Formats: sequence, C-alpha cells, structure tokens
Amino acid sequence: MKILAITGALRKDSYNTQLLKAVKELAPQDMEIEIVTLHGIPLYDGDEEDKHGLPASVKALQEKVRQADGIIIATPEYNFSVPGVLKNATDWLSRSGNPFKWKRVGVMGASQGPIGTARSQYHLRQNLVGLEAITMPKPEIFVASADRKFANGELTDEATKKVITSWLAAFKDWVAKS
Ligand SMILES: Cc1cc2nc3c(=O)[nH]c(=O)nc-3n(C[C@H](O)[C@H](O)[C@H](O)COP(=O)(O)O)c2cc1C
Repeated sequence: MKILAITGALRKDSYNTQLLKAVKELAPQDMEIEIVTLHGIPLYDGDEEDKHGLPASVKALQEKVRQADGIIIATPEYNFSVPGVLKNATDWLSRSGNPFKWKRVGVMGASQGPIGTARSQYHLRQNLVGLEAITMPKPEIFVASADRKFANGELTDEATKKVITSWLAAFKDWVAKS
C-alpha cells in the first residue's frame, strides 16, 4: 500500500514533519510512506495558470497524489486555521484533473497549544470536501503540547506513539476500502 504524507509546515524542525516521520516509523510493514514538503509550490495565480498552465512543481505533486493509494496530511494550526502554505497547495492541486477526487485521506496535526490543531484540522476537512476526497472521520490525532512530546527531532511520547499505531491500523482499513 503506497501512502503519500504531506506536511503543511515548511520549517526544518517542524513538529508536523516530525509527526509524519513517527508515522512512517510506526507504519505496518506493507505500508510504504513517502513524506513530502510543500517547498517550491508558488502562490496560486489564476493569470499564471491561464498563461502557462500548472507549474511543474504542482504537476509533480499531483502525480504523486494520483499514484498513492492514500494520503496523510499533517497540518499545523495558524490563527485557528490551516496555514496559507497548505491551503495554497490544495488550491493548486485541485486544478485541472484534481487527483484528490475519491482519494482516501487521513488528517492529523501537532501544535504547542492545548488542542493540537483541532481547529485547523476541521478547516482542512472542509477543504477536502471541496476536493471530493474521502477523509477518514475517526479516529483523530491531535498532538497537543508538542514541545513536550518531541526531542532532538523525534517523537518521544509513548502515549502518542500508541495513538499513532492504532490510528495507522484504522487508516490501513480505510484505504483498503477504496
Ligand atoms: C502565524 C502563526 C500562527 C499560529 N497560530 C496558532 C494557533 O492558532 N493555534 C496553535 O495551537 N498554535 C499556533 N501557532 C503556533 C504553532 O502551533 C507552532 O508554531 C507550531 O510549531 C507550528 O507547526 P510546526 O512545528 O509543524 O512548524 C501559530 C504559529 C504561527 C507562526
């Protein structure tokens, strides 16, 4: 089973990227996870799209989404919502042959705050409805107080590892249903 894991954060020490690294490490053997960042995706501009079509970086990411059996998105929370970087990328990806249509998706997120990106995940879920993705409703992963759960670039919190392991089992079933 091929899974594409998209992090909505660009910074190198991102908790959300570290979360996806933990997901990859804890994944079942038959689940192959590729983690991608959104570096290189330009700001959406309808004039550019009319003149030149989709940028190469967007086409390449669309192709990765198309080839994957399922998608995982880890989103930070910025001002109670999805970071512009991630929203911008989903806007581009939705254009011309939207590869998210009917795609099985799982969402998660980590923040230093007390509710672990719950608000941004629910905004992301709404965007994914627009993209006609089939997003797993439950279980959910809200990694709160992330600054206490990661150290030296790694997830160290055992309780969160357990949550991720059972989430992955549910996600595997969810993707297999497609
Ligand atoms: C512009 C901005 C807005 C933020 N707003 C929120 C917020 O609404 N809720 C929250 O829990 N954290 C918020 N934060 C803190 C982020 O959760 C924190 O920076 C987190 O580490 C970002 O994710 P990352 O580690 O994957 O880069 C905000 C950070 C920035 C830069």
